[in-house]
Amino acid sequence: MPEDVALPEEFDLPAGGGFISGAPEGIGESPFDEVLPEEPLDVGSEDDPALAFRRTLGMFATGVTIVTTQAGEQVHGMTANAFMSVSLRPPLILVSVDKRAKMNSLLREGVRFGVNVLAQGQDELSDHFAGRPRDHAPETRFRFIHDTPLVDGALAHLVARVVRSYWGGDHSLFLGQVEYARYGEGTPLLFHGGQYEQLLAKVPLFSSLSPDLLRPILASGVERRYAAGDAIVQEGEPGDDLFVLLEGKVRVERGGRVLQVLDEGDFFGEVAVLDGRPRSADVVAETSVRCVTVSRDVLRETLAAEPQAAWAMLEILAGRVRRE
Ligand SMILES: Cc1cc2nc3c(=O)[nH]c(=O)nc-3n(C[C@H](O)[C@H](O)[C@H](O)COP(=O)(O)O)c2cc1C
Repeated sequence: MPEDVALPEEFDLPAGGGFISGAPEGIGESPFDEVLPEEPLDVGSEDDPALAFRRTLGMFATGVTIVTTQAGEQVHGMTANAFMSVSLRPPLILVSVDKRAKMNSLLREGVRFGVNVLAQGQDELSDHFAGRPRDHAPETRFRFIHDTPLVDGALAHLVARVVRSYWGGDHSLFLGQVEYARYGEGTPLLFHGGQYEQLLAKVPLFSSLSPDLLRPILASGVERRYAAGDAIVQEGEPGDDLFVLLEGKVRVERGGRVLQVLDEGDFFGEVAVLDGRPRSADVVAETSVRCVTVSRDVLRETLAAEPQAAWAMLEILAGRVRRE
């Protein structure tokens, strides 16, 4: 990474800037393979301390990745949420792999591995690579970058080469120097408390209604047009309107980063129009745009006149809350 690339603010610490080669005294001095003596673990009055410890760790919400590598002709993938970013300069990441996992026998210093960050809706894929087969195994397509298999359709891809490996109790820690990093648009799959979760703010609500129920809602809206480059919605302003794109494309951006590109038929502002909280992102017309907007007041009147649509939305929300 070039030295003059600006780091995000959260990395702008007094010690930062430039390549940090050394480490403060006391860091990195213990032999990594020294096995620690067993010490008591206080988990309160729980019956099963191991389970209690696991559940405690499970409170830390993470994304989900598939760690991939190739050994000879064989491609191997393993679901992992014990993934973390370590350093920007040099670019380093870390994965923690159970010593019983096949992946543990494949990763060695010098070996390359991929980290594929899963998107919302890829929980089947996650289960598949966690050795929990579902009835219909998802078809996985790999493409090779730097001789490393990467899962097609993941939200972000990294390729790293193991530069250090450490003893980590019943896991091994593999520190990888990143050689390749790409991200796409979309929302991540989340894992919390032993189950998959999703970013609730992104839950489609009105857009999940059947065409019959949607019709009266859209009929109550007004049509608006925007030219390419126009700011349709700005972060921080009140989210008083629901938008449905009839023609054209828009970019959803935050801090100058494109989060999503929306197309004909897509909705935005679905949740904000109901909770009235400020917009969390900018929406900019990428092409000339024609859309229907429905204000909160009109929406309230329409839903009062169409209780079936209101009920269907409650059903959609209930379906999101319940986990199979
Ligand atoms: C959401 C999720 C996260 C997981 N995270 C890890 C992890 O970080 N490290 C690990 O070793 N196993 C993790 N596992 C378990 C492995 O995916 C599982 O043991 C897998 O079958 C090992 O594959 P392998 O033996 O074929 O390499 C996770 C499983 C799930 C469902």
